[in-house]
Amino acid sequence: MLCGSIAGRPGPFGVAMHTAAFRALAIDAVYVAFGTEDTAGAVAAMRALGIRGLGVTMPHKQRVADYVDAVSDEARAIGAINTLLNEAGRIIGHNVDWIGAIRALAEATPLAGRTAAVIGAGGGGRAIAYGLARAGARVTLYNRTRARGEAAAAALGIAFAGAPEALSEAPAYDILCHATPVGFHDERAILIAPEVLRADAVVFDAVAQPPDTALLTAARARGARTVSGTRMQLHQAAQQFALYTGRAPDLAVMEQALQDAILRLQRDRTVAA
Ligand SMILES: NC(=O)c1ccc[n+]([C@@H]2O[C@H](COP(=O)([O-])OP(=O)(O)OC[C@H]3O[C@@H](n4cnc5c(N)ncnc54)[C@H](OP(=O)(O)O)[C@@H]3O)[C@@H](O)[C@H]2O)c1
Repeated sequence: MLCGSIAGRPGPFGVAMHTAAFRALAIDAVYVAFGTEDTAGAVAAMRALGIRGLGVTMPHKQRVADYVDAVSDEARAIGAINTLLNEAGRIIGHNVDWIGAIRALAEATPLAGRTAAVIGAGGGGRAIAYGLARAGARVTLYNRTRARGEAAAAALGIAFAGAPEALSEAPAYDILCHATPVGFHDERAILIAPEVLRADAVVFDAVAQPPDTALLTAARARGARTVSGTRMQLHQAAQQFALYTGRAPDLAVMEQALQDAILRLQRDRTVAA
């Protein structure tokens, strides 16, 4: 079996986690992180080569919908596809980002009845907001571009409260989720003013690279509990593995592989600096 991922800028985490999980269950499979900008070509290759499953990240998450045979209800509601499953030649678009986010957050806090602020109305933000609403949280969305934020909030049946800066006037929240690219591959960049980070909140940063972002550091300094985007990656990868193989992975094995890959990346960066 061949599985993998398509991304403009492929990272090492998917390969590490899936390969370790295949080995742990003695499944004869290989996982390859394909770097490509060609969405149509990648889906055609999946069909032609019989690739069983592909993780989908930027820039493919929205446009891949044009090339699949069907879209799951969740992916349709979120408006983004992050996983392709090849069912005997039929390519189905799924979204398991929301499951990854909810499982990551649920490790830190109950979700039902909690008040959540989600910043970012792209594929990531919409998946997190969808998952939180489905888990029973009261969700308010913030987004730089009002029209996009309003449209996403209306589609998800949640509130919209304006640009990220409006968070300073927001009523108290229990959970704050950041899902914009600010801080991605930039250890110093932070979108949210530290003063609005609440000591009694759980702060989640979907940005997984670096694993510890400036937002998470600032949140901890304010006394908040934090959840890294790498936890979302772990749990969404586990769900992808289940889709591809029909079996539950050994989560501890995947977690160890992810930790090792993070350490390797940090070591390589230190050597390169
Ligand atoms: N850990 C995981 O498993 C996981 C999964 C999915 C996504 N993510 C992360 O989540 C982040 C968002 O990904 P995405 O796929 O949702 O991206 P996207 O679809 O491109 O959406 C980006 C969102 O961020 C906003 N934004 C972009 N630059 C901004 C800035 N300088 N200031 C304020 N808002 C800004 C955009 O607002 P406008 O509408 O105004 O353009 C938009 O709402 C990325 O860092 C990605 O790596 C992580």
